Amino acid sequence: MLLPYTTLCLLMLVTTCRSSDTIDVHQNISDGETIVSGNARFELGFFSPGNSKNRYLGIWFKNTSSQTVAWVANRETPLIDNSGVVKLDNQGNLTLIDGSGKVIWSSNSLVSSRNINLVVQLLDTGNLVIRNGNISNNESFIWQSFDYPEDTYLPRMKMGKNFITGRETYLTSWRSVDDPSPGEYTLRVSTEKGKYTQAYVKRGSAIVLRIGPYNGITFSGQANYASDANPISDSNVIVHQNEMYSAYISKNNTIRAIVTPGGKLEISLLKFPNPEWIPILTMPRDYCDNYGVCGPYGNCNTATSRYCRCLTGFERKTLDETNSYTNTSVCKQSMPFDCGLGEGFQKFSSMKLPDTENAVFISNMSLLDCEVACKNNCSCNAYANPNITIGGVGCLLWYGGLIDVRVYPQNGQDLYVRLAASKLLDLHSKKKRVVMEVSLSIAAVLTFSGLILTFHTWRKWKKRLEANSSNQMASAEVSVFSLSKISRATNDFSVDNKLGEGGFGPVYKGQLDEGREIAVKRLSKTSGQGIDEFKNEVICIAKLQHRNLVKLLGYCVQGEEKMLIYEYMPNKSLDSFLFDESRKSLLDWPKRFHIIHGIARGLLYLHQDSRLKVVHRDLKAGNILLDHQMRPKISDFGLARMFKEDENEANTKRVVGTLGYISPEYAVNGLYSVKSDIFSFGVLLLEIVSGKKNRGFIHEDHNDNLLGHTWRLYKEDKSLDLIDECLHASYSTCEVLRSIHVGLLCVQHRVEDRPDTPIVVASDGSRIFYQWVHCFRCLNFNR
Ligand SMILES: *[C@@H]1O[C@H](CO)[C@@H](O)[C@H](O)[C@H]1NC(C)=O
Ligand SMILES: *[C@@H]1O[C@H](CO)[C@@H](O)[C@H](O)[C@H]1NC(C)=O
Ligand SMILES: *[C@@H]1O[C@H](CO)[C@@H](O)[C@H](O)[C@H]1NC(C)=O
Ligand SMILES: *[C@@H]1O[C@H](CO)[C@@H](O)[C@H](O)[C@H]1NC(C)=O
Ligand SMILES: *[C@@H]1O[C@H](CO)[C@@H](O)[C@H](O)[C@H]1NC(C)=O
Ligand SMILES: *[C@@H]1O[C@H](CO)[C@@H](O)[C@H](O)[C@H]1NC(C)=O
Ligand SMILES: *[C@@H]1O[C@H](CO)[C@@H](O)[C@H](O)[C@H]1NC(C)=O
Ligand SMILES: *[C@@H]1O[C@H](CO)[C@@H](O)[C@H](O)[C@H]1NC(C)=O
Ligand SMILES: *[C@@H]1O[C@H](CO)[C@@H](O)[C@H](O)[C@H]1NC(C)=O
Ligand SMILES: *[C@@H]1O[C@H](CO)[C@@H](O)[C@H](O)[C@H]1NC(C)=O
Ligand SMILES: *[C@@H]1O[C@H](CO)[C@@H](O)[C@H](O)[C@H]1NC(C)=O
Ligand SMILES: *[C@@H]1O[C@H](CO)[C@@H](O)[C@H](O)[C@H]1NC(C)=O
Repeated sequence: MLLPYTTLCLLMLVTTCRSSDTIDVHQNISDGETIVSGNARFELGFFSPGNSKNRYLGIWFKNTSSQTVAWVANRETPLIDNSGVVKLDNQGNLTLIDGSGKVIWSSNSLVSSRNINLVVQLLDTGNLVIRNGNISNNESFIWQSFDYPEDTYLPRMKMGKNFITGRETYLTSWRSVDDPSPGEYTLRVSTEKGKYTQAYVKRGSAIVLRIGPYNGITFSGQANYASDANPISDSNVIVHQNEMYSAYISKNNTIRAIVTPGGKLEISLLKFPNPEWIPILTMPRDYCDNYGVCGPYGNCNTATSRYCRCLTGFERKTLDETNSYTNTSVCKQSMPFDCGLGEGFQKFSSMKLPDTENAVFISNMSLLDCEVACKNNCSCNAYANPNITIGGVGCLLWYGGLIDVRVYPQNGQDLYVRLAASKLLDLHSKKKRVVMEVSLSIAAVLTFSGLILTFHTWRKWKKRLEANSSNQMASAEVSVFSLSKISRATNDFSVDNKLGEGGFGPVYKGQLDEGREIAVKRLSKTSGQGIDEFKNEVICIAKLQHRNLVKLLGYCVQGEEKMLIYEYMPNKSLDSFLFDESRKSLLDWPKRFHIIHGIARGLLYLHQDSRLKVVHRDLKAGNILLDHQMRPKISDFGLARMFKEDENEANTKRVVGTLGYISPEYAVNGLYSVKSDIFSFGVLLLEIVSGKKNRGFIHEDHNDNLLGHTWRLYKEDKSLDLIDECLHASYSTCEVLRSIHVGLLCVQHRVEDRPDTPIVVASDGSRIFYQWVHCFRCLNFNR
């Protein structure tokens, strides 16, 4: 037994003789020896960086093509020869000693109790810890290197501040590639209480780059780290009473972020099997990423020939157009705001929100209240909702300069900037100049009686319009219900009649006087829609008729109340079967496959066949209703249309949708399309097959979510393991496999890779096969 191990050691030139990832107080590590984390991803030992001859104790990624150091113990006090020895004393103090016995570095940690079996361990995360060796899996360490980050951020490290000890953790660049001692650049997450979370790269005390603000999912402006297997990554900002930190949890620990000696932030991903770093984001990416290049009230846009312009409503201090301005403050407010009548806000879409240093954050305020709050305080220059997660509330109010604003072609958010009445008028008049000129000249010649005449004509015209829309109503068979009728039917909206709460408001069961059962959706009051618009939308939606869509019977508008009346579905929603242990067995495979087909048909109709082309935006098991024969019907379609505000085609500030179903590009960038529905459909498909919720599913062995787990099984050729256990063996293998295949195709991270609706629906082998081949190619699948 001994011989092979020794031989192996000799072969490996005595560099990795230790078979363990720990040392204890009876052992030590000398130069030339290393310890390796249990997953063989990280290694601790002595090294010399770049061209330097100095020796350092450090942790590096094992077996990468060029040595990548993650942490250095004695970064400021190098050893000048190979004489270093590391030991742990019986008080929990880890020390690095040179040849002459001088202490070069120590962890400076101490345990009071003497009977502890102390060990130093290099964890799989790259964290070097001193802990009680008798207790495994204890997260409370005596000391850990993750508390002392250097230039490298690794997943699970915390960056932020402990308010009790006052200690802040942040990154500091190396001085140069040959010298790990602290360089000029730092990366810190802003931790001041009451300030909104963002991060800065600073050179000394000067800000060079701002990352963020945090948008509820990630720091806005960062690419998302998602890999094929983990479509949505988790970057979390945690604020407790005692500490505030940002941490990124990677499923596989293969990401690192570093601040380079030159002050760049680089995020890269380790690709296997031949470990190699693939950069996924380097900031600054372009001129506009440099902090505040256009000065206060300036707006940087790389898509225009001159990058810097003033935000609309602000003007240049000099009128000299030839003066190519860059970083100086050249934009100014044209006149101070006085909270006068007519002052308002101009919406800018796709923006990087200004530095939140001089902003106030109110977490429980809606966007509407936010506008009011800003409007009522004359020193408030702008407002925004920084949080893009569903139902995100939160209000940022800026007082003073708007700094570091830029256009993000993809990850932008909406910013509302205050405008003086005159500017607002200018802006509108530009759009409506023609109309205004006409009406003004008419007004000029009209006499008083003429005005009355015009009024009459207008009234008639309006009546005709109304008549017209009621005609349409008749043709679409939508009835108008009175509030009293609905109130009676739902027992005065009693709690007993409540069926559930959807994204757009609560739903009640009702029974009309003539006995017909209905479902009443009471819309929340945030749509901001006028009554006429509402009616028009209802009429549009009522035209969508398909056997796999829930039928809209009518509506009710009275005062503030807006309601939609639907046919009642006795078997409730798909999730009430699928995720209920006692009821899931009622859905055998043929029923499930039938449901899958029905949903696909309904979706195809919404996306392609109907005249309106509707993107559902909240497709999920809870929105698939089942009729008395268990036929699936998509509900809540068209509601997203009603709630849409006039804004850029496919960019929304309010991400409606449900976690677990929203596609990455929608969650992160607010971009939605038919393909976002396809993503949700894919998730739904895999949920129907597996009987498990994507949201909240974490496989105990490898922390994958449902999508990652399915992909893993697929790669291991064990797709059938995914199937809901309650189906036993009663299913068609071919149908199950096809469903899983299609599901996987639909949840691909890249929008372009997801199939179009018809191909998802097609059940003939050839088209599926075509997509198959495509899938092999785009995911490097080779079998
Ligand atoms: C540590 O290493 C030094 C030199 O390599 C050796 O002299 C010493 O005995 C070792 N100590 C322990 C506790 O193993
Ligand atoms: C750890 O060891 C170093 C070197 O011997 C010493 O200077 C330091 O005080 C020790 N720390 C503690 C907490 O005992
Ligand atoms: C820890 O384990 C060691 C043996 O590994 C034992 O001698 C010691 O008493 C244990 N300490 C405690 C506190 O359990
Ligand atoms: C971990 O260790 C701390 C003290 O070192 C102790 O208070 C805690 O109970 C331990 N937790 C577990 C799960 O053993
Ligand atoms: C995790 O890393 C290992 C290499 O250590 C790799 O084989 C595996 O595919 C990775 N898993 C995922 C989900 O990326
Ligand atoms: C180390 O990396 C090389 C390629 O750089 C690869 O061939 C080898 O299999 C890797 N070894 C281990 C143990 O991962
Ligand atoms: C501002 O721009 C000028 C030249 O346009 C440059 O010399 C100066 O260093 C810049 N200042 C900052 C703070 O970037
Ligand atoms: C918002 O929070 C503040 C204090 O945290 C509280 O006083 C206020 O009532 C809250 N407003 C709403 C609408 O919840
Ligand atoms: C406007 O807001 C600022 C900053 O929060 C505050 O200091 C000031 O008192 C407010 N002014 C009014 C009139 O409320
Ligand atoms: C964003 O909104 C979500 C949902 O309302 C909430 O849970 C989360 O705490 C918010 N995040 C921030 C940073 O405000
Ligand atoms: C009435 O509706 C028809 C078609 O639905 C349309 O062509 C016509 O212009 C409408 N009339 C008015 C006055 O809007
Ligand atoms: C579905 O609803 C019908 C009518 O209410 C009922 O007869 C049937 O049992 C229900 N099916 C299931 C599986 O609950």
